[in-house]
Amino acid sequence: MAEAAILGFLQNNESIPDSGKFAAELNLDHEEIKNVIKSLQGFRYIEAKELKRETLVLTDEGKKYAAEGSPEFHFFSAVPEEGSVSKDDLEKKLDASVFKIGSTQAAKKKWVAMGKQVSRKVQHVEDKVKESLLQIQQGLELDQESLNSLKARKLIVTQGWTGYSDVKKGPCYAPKRKIFATDLTRENLQNWKELEFKEYNFNAKGQPLDAGHLHPLLKVRKQFKDIFCQMGFEEMPTNNFVESSFWNFDALFQPQQHPARDSHDTFFLKAPSTTRELPEDYVERVKQVHESGGYGSRGYNYDWKREEANKNLLRTHTTAVSSRMLYALAKGPFTPKKYFSIDRVFRNEAVDRTHLAEFHQIEGLICDRGLTLGDLIGVLQAFFSRLGMPKLRFKPAYNPYTEPSMEIFSYHEGLEKWVEIGNSGMFRPEMLQPMGLPEDVRVIAWGLSLERPTMILYGIDNIRDLFGHKVDLDLIKRNPICRVGIE
Ligand code: PHE
Repeated sequence: MAEAAILGFLQNNESIPDSGKFAAELNLDHEEIKNVIKSLQGFRYIEAKELKRETLVLTDEGKKYAAEGSPEFHFFSAVPEEGSVSKDDLEKKLDASVFKIGSTQAAKKKWVAMGKQVSRKVQHVEDKVKESLLQIQQGLELDQESLNSLKARKLIVTQGWTGYSDVKKGPCYAPKRKIFATDLTRENLQNWKELEFKEYNFNAKGQPLDAGHLHPLLKVRKQFKDIFCQMGFEEMPTNNFVESSFWNFDALFQPQQHPARDSHDTFFLKAPSTTRELPEDYVERVKQVHESGGYGSRGYNYDWKREEANKNLLRTHTTAVSSRMLYALAKGPFTPKKYFSIDRVFRNEAVDRTHLAEFHQIEGLICDRGLTLGDLIGVLQAFFSRLGMPKLRFKPAYNPYTEPSMEIFSYHEGLEKWVEIGNSGMFRPEMLQPMGLPEDVRVIAWGLSLERPTMILYGIDNIRDLFGHKVDLDLIKRNPICRVGIE
C-alpha cells in the first residue's frame, strides 16, 4: 500500500515535500511510510532528506479535558447563576480532582469568588482550555501564551518527530519495485538468465555472532576449583543428586527426629522412594551409635529406624558426598586426604531474593592424624586469603556432625561490615569411628555456597536474576570476568 502510493505519486509528481502530510492526506500510517521510504532509498529507487521537528501532543490529562471539558469549567458550571453555594456542598458534589483543580483555576481566572460560600463573578465563561487542546489535536497553530500555560499545567508536551522531506525519484526509480534474487539457491542458479540478482553490499555489517557465554557461577566455580587444586585438594565425585537419608543424615550422626529431616526442609523422592542397598555392617554400627553411643559417646537414646535411613532424597548438602568418601577411605590402609567438591544441593525453601530451592555448595575437608581446631583455623585463613578475604572471625555454632563447629565471618571492605561466608567444624568421633577410621584420625571441614560470593562479586542482589527459570540472560551475556582474590 504505502510503497505503491509513494512510487505511484512520484511517477506523476516532482516530489513529496513532507512525509507526515503525505501520510495524513492518504490516511496511511506515517511509521509505515517512513519504513518504506528508508527501504526504497536503500535500493536507490528514491532519494529523500531526513526531517526533524518538534510537535505538541496531549498528555492523558490533556486528552481528558479535550474530550470532557476543563475542571474549572465544570467547577464554574456547578456554581449557581444567582446567589451562592457552600464550598462543602461543591466538594461533595464534584469529583475530587475537578473540585481541587477546578476551584484553584476558576478562582485564578476570577470566574468565581471563593470563600465558605462560592458565587459567580461573571455570568458567562468560555472553556478556552478545551478549545486550545482541540486545536492542538487538529495540528493547528496556537499563541505562545496559551501554549506556555498548557505546558505548565502538563496538559501538553513537546515530542520529537522525524520524517522525510524532498522525496524524489532516485537513479534506479521504477514505478514498481523489482524483486531481486538474493540467495544462490539451486533454483535461482538454474534460472539465472531471467533473474536479476541483488548486488553484494560489502559494507553491510555481519550478523552478531550468537556465541556461547559462561555463566558467572561457572566462572567463579573455576576460580574456587583452581584455589583448591593449588592447595593440593582432590575433587570428589558429586554426580548423584539423589542420595539416601542414610548418607545424607544418618552417617553424619544427624538424629532421625532432627527438623532438617522433615519434608518441610528436604525434598524426598516418590519414585524410587527408597535406596536399594547400604553397607550392612556399617549401617549396624551407625544404628548403634545413634541409639546408645560408643567411642566415649552416650548416643541419642532413641529407636533408630532403618526405614527412615532408606528414604531417598535430593541431597541437602555435599557433606553427604564427604561421608561416602570418608567411608571409602576408611576401608583401605589409612592415607591422609584433602578433598573438595562444588556442586548442587537442594532444600525445600521459600524462594526469595536470597534463597532458591537449589544452590551450589563448596565443600572442603582434610583428613589426617592428629589434626586440631588450630589446623582448621589455619587452613581456612589460607583458603579465604586466596579468595581475597584475609580478615576472618569465627563464631561457635552447632552442626550435628561437627564438634566444635564454627561459623565463618569475613570483613567485607565494600559493605564495611562482617558477613557470614561459611560454616565449618571438626567431624565428630560418632561420625568417623563407625566408619572404621583409626582413632587418632581427625577431619576438619567447611562448606559455603557458591552463589553468595558470586552475587557479591558481580553486584547481583536478587538470586533469581542469577539462577533458575527467571535468570537474566542479558546479564549472563554481558557479565565480565570478575576475579576473586588479590593480585
Ligand atoms: N554441611 C554444612 C552446611 O550445609 C556445611 C559444613 C560442611 C559444615 C562441613 C561443617 C563441615 O551448611
